[in-house]
Amino acid sequence: MDFTFAQRVKDLKGSAIRESFKALSRPGMISFAGGMPDPSTYPVEEINTIANEIFSETPITALQYGITEGYAPLIEQTRKRLSNAKIGSEDDSLIITSGGQQAIELITKALINEGDGIACEVPSFIGALNAFRSYNARLYSVPVEDDGMNIDILDKTLSENKNIKFIYTIPTFQNPSGITMSLEKRKQLLDVAKRHNVLILEDNPYGELRFAGKDVPTLKSLDNDGIVMYVGSYSKILAPGLRVGFLLAQKDIVEKAVVCKQVSDVHTGVLSQMIVSKYLEKYDINEQIKKSANLNGKKCALMLKFIDKYFPSDVSRTSPEGGLFLWCDLGRDIDSIEFAAKCVEKNVAIVSGASAMPDTSKKTSTFRLNFSMASEEKLELGIKTIGDVIRSYGR
Ligand SMILES: Cc1ncc(COP(=O)(O)O)c(C=O)c1O
Repeated sequence: MDFTFAQRVKDLKGSAIRESFKALSRPGMISFAGGMPDPSTYPVEEINTIANEIFSETPITALQYGITEGYAPLIEQTRKRLSNAKIGSEDDSLIITSGGQQAIELITKALINEGDGIACEVPSFIGALNAFRSYNARLYSVPVEDDGMNIDILDKTLSENKNIKFIYTIPTFQNPSGITMSLEKRKQLLDVAKRHNVLILEDNPYGELRFAGKDVPTLKSLDNDGIVMYVGSYSKILAPGLRVGFLLAQKDIVEKAVVCKQVSDVHTGVLSQMIVSKYLEKYDINEQIKKSANLNGKKCALMLKFIDKYFPSDVSRTSPEGGLFLWCDLGRDIDSIEFAAKCVEKNVAIVSGASAMPDTSKKTSTFRLNFSMASEEKLELGIKTIGDVIRSYGR
């Protein structure tokens, strides 16, 4: 049977990260590739208790269709958590989504016509880049520096490309770089976006997972003009398999996202939403977050120590203050796709920086390491092995 794929998705490649999951089943494989919290932090007992309560007290609510906007108690609890962090105003609405990923897709579906532009950080999150590509958006690259996006380049890009509809940023503990945008740059970013009349999509799944340094306010909390659309998630602070995230944005944008979601999946699974809601009601999620962030911090420090011990000194790396990732640059003419494949041959999975590039035509010598998943014992062996692969290239 002959068929052709739609132009929109013809050139889309599967996420290298998802692909790497296949190699993970190999015995002895050490994974620095995933993007999930340490599984030991999942509140299994608590969720077991909650699920039993749901099925003995309100089973039909859990098994019945729900409303597209989300399970009402969870909407309220999420808004309360956000408002405690001064995120959002009365002009905003919130929709519960199937992970933050769906929120990003719904925004794209609602706002992007073929050929419209999106200004993206370099590097950026593959899941979002692919969502943008699947609507035939044009991606414009804005480099990320040690303190976040290069605002001058952003300004110039917006001046030269009037088709840009929004700026996509992960300002806190960025995936993949681990970098956090400074307060000064956040203010500049808001000014530039306002001046060019362009929306901002702030994606913040990791923001609460700080283990060092001082909090920096979210863009949304600094926004007085209704230009920031804010995406959050319970994936990295509770459990990713529940698939519960949210979009907080101007009412009319959320209204359109609701219609778009009806087309996609009608609503996010009610059982998952009820589990998150009951968890928020019965337990202290901030304790859970603190526990998880402390563990990540310990593992990050160990990974950095081993990187400094086993990697050649010309390999640069970031020093995250939270989140799940750090970012390395081999600093020489080595293609990181080939490099990542060599690491997998030696039983260590990493993510090539190539998958994080809005412009796929450019080669890169960068790669992402996740520090939350591997056990402490495997951290040293894994980093030492990567160091050996780097040295195998010679000087
Ligand atoms: C930056 C970023 N945004 C959004 C997501 C989507 O997460 P989820 O759909 O599990 O909420 C991820 C997941 O890795 C991410 O890293």
